[in-house]
Amino acid sequence: MIPYGRHSINDDDIAEVVAALKSDWLTTGPLVEEFESALEKVIGAPCISVSSGTAALHCAYAAIGLGPGDEVITPPITFIATQATAALFGATIVFADIQPDTANIDPQAVAAAITPRTKAIVAVDYAGQPADLDELRAIADRHGIYLIEDAAHSMGSIYKGRPVGSIADITTFSFFPTKNLTTCEGGAVASIHPELLERAKRFARQGLVRNPNEFKITDQGPWHQEVHEFGLNYRLPDILCALGLSQLKRLDEFKLQRSQVFDLYSKAFQEESAIVLPKKRANMSPMWHLYPIQVNAKNRRQIFDELRSVKIGVQVNYLPVHLHPVFNSMNLKGKFPASEMFYEREISLPMSTILTAVEIEYITSRVKVAISKCE
Ligand SMILES: Cc1ncc(COP(=O)(O)O)c(C=O)c1O
Repeated sequence: MIPYGRHSINDDDIAEVVAALKSDWLTTGPLVEEFESALEKVIGAPCISVSSGTAALHCAYAAIGLGPGDEVITPPITFIATQATAALFGATIVFADIQPDTANIDPQAVAAAITPRTKAIVAVDYAGQPADLDELRAIADRHGIYLIEDAAHSMGSIYKGRPVGSIADITTFSFFPTKNLTTCEGGAVASIHPELLERAKRFARQGLVRNPNEFKITDQGPWHQEVHEFGLNYRLPDILCALGLSQLKRLDEFKLQRSQVFDLYSKAFQEESAIVLPKKRANMSPMWHLYPIQVNAKNRRQIFDELRSVKIGVQVNYLPVHLHPVFNSMNLKGKFPASEMFYEREISLPMSTILTAVEIEYITSRVKVAISKCE
């Protein structure tokens, strides 16, 4: 099966991990800060590493003090971690529909969903293409609320000349193996506000306060540390930071390879009227995580099964989050038609840095065959 996403690990990556294994540190050692500094250079804002993209979102919501009674506005087309980590703080999940061309949250729908209880807008950069960050920023500023960007798909993407990570109040990343770079499991939280990053960091490190100036009880001795607010253990170990550091050096190469795959697909399908191709917006330089095509909804299952049967690992991203049974009590079916239509038509073709031109040729010809069988 040609996988829909796959990591690329080379000998340098392996050598860095082996060196870390032979060092004095396995968990929190010098490579953690080194990785975070290297990441900062790419994403344009200070950041902390954490153990997954889900952990990163949980930290982001902790940093803004999300709690019961607060509302967060989110898009249905995302992985459910975007919402789950907010719901676990007791916040109310509000949905705003997507724009059909990018599958990113629609700023007009966001504006219509704002209430006095809205605490944050959460944008997801679907497939690697940044959401309409300027428009969302303007709405957030007008209402004095936070803009959070779930950039699990878009590490390395550039929005109007600015790197993803340097724009929203808080940006979260995932380094899962199918993502744009990997640390096995892993993620990061970036913020343009030092105090928010500090809160995220404390949450990711068990809530421990180690700065004597902040102590609320008498310093008990050199071992003393204390907790003011609960946190969790979301640390990314040194060994995985070693892999991340090595992968970061390859990010430009990865971006180029992914855009070559994108271009080869788009060229092969340019005459295919039965396929809607992903569209790159002007002023965007996405690092493509997915290649999502849309086909006639009534044929999607047949095309999907046909491609799987010839060993092409297609995927569907995603079941709209409001349709998960966990939201049944909110009765939302039919309320976000652009998202539901996108879902019914979408198929993600394999996208990775290790796809060969021969594989792409095979995939595109098989997609055409599968479509012609439905006519
Ligand atoms: C949009 C989005 N957000 C968050 C996550 C969670 O990331 P992780 O798998 O690293 O926890 C993912 C992962 O698939 C994702 O696609």
